[in-house]
Amino acid sequence: MKNKSNLSNHATWLRAHIQKPVVLVGMMGTGKSQLGARLARRLEMPFADSDSEIERRAGCSVAEVFTRDGQERFRAVEQNVILELLARTEPHIIATGGGAVTRPETLALIKAKAVSIWLNADPATILSRVRDVTTRPLLNQPDPEAALKNLLDARTALYQQADVHIMADNERIQETLDQMIVALYGYLRHRKE
Ligand code: S3P
Repeated sequence: MKNKSNLSNHATWLRAHIQKPVVLVGMMGTGKSQLGARLARRLEMPFADSDSEIERRAGCSVAEVFTRDGQERFRAVEQNVILELLARTEPHIIATGGGAVTRPETLALIKAKAVSIWLNADPATILSRVRDVTTRPLLNQPDPEAALKNLLDARTALYQQADVHIMADNERIQETLDQMIVALYGYLRHRKE
């Protein structure tokens, strides 16, 4: 009971004190879009998803943009979309694609303009959640497990630069959401003192 009321106090405090966008980073399959949308609802803030925004503008799926324009072009578009989302004035929650942080300019933007949360998960959890690799061009390989390992090796040090770190293996999404509220509150409250 005490925990519930603490959580609700934390959420109330966050609604009143968050002044920057909150950006979720992390590998595919860690739940950035789903948890981001839930966090936004809980904090009564707007939610945006950079992949959905890219798809809306391109009029096709992320996988199609990769095939048609290549990864380099995709990353440039992704950088512009994230730049625009970060420029919105009211505080909001943004879920990014798993590779957004690999472009140094995009990582620098996130670090300068947002509070960032890294959703981390074990490779086995990620693989079980992204079974349909056809929608994930970088895992759509003969050996998705090896492809994921390579991506994690290259990216973990980038994700680690996020302000708040959360393990998102738990299938009970509500519990991960509660952890995010507690950790975000701890991080921002500490910085205000
Ligand atoms: C990518 C992750 C995808 C999408 C694209 C590239 C990556 O987003 O942006 O397929 O490089 O990890 P999700 O993390 O939302 O799956």
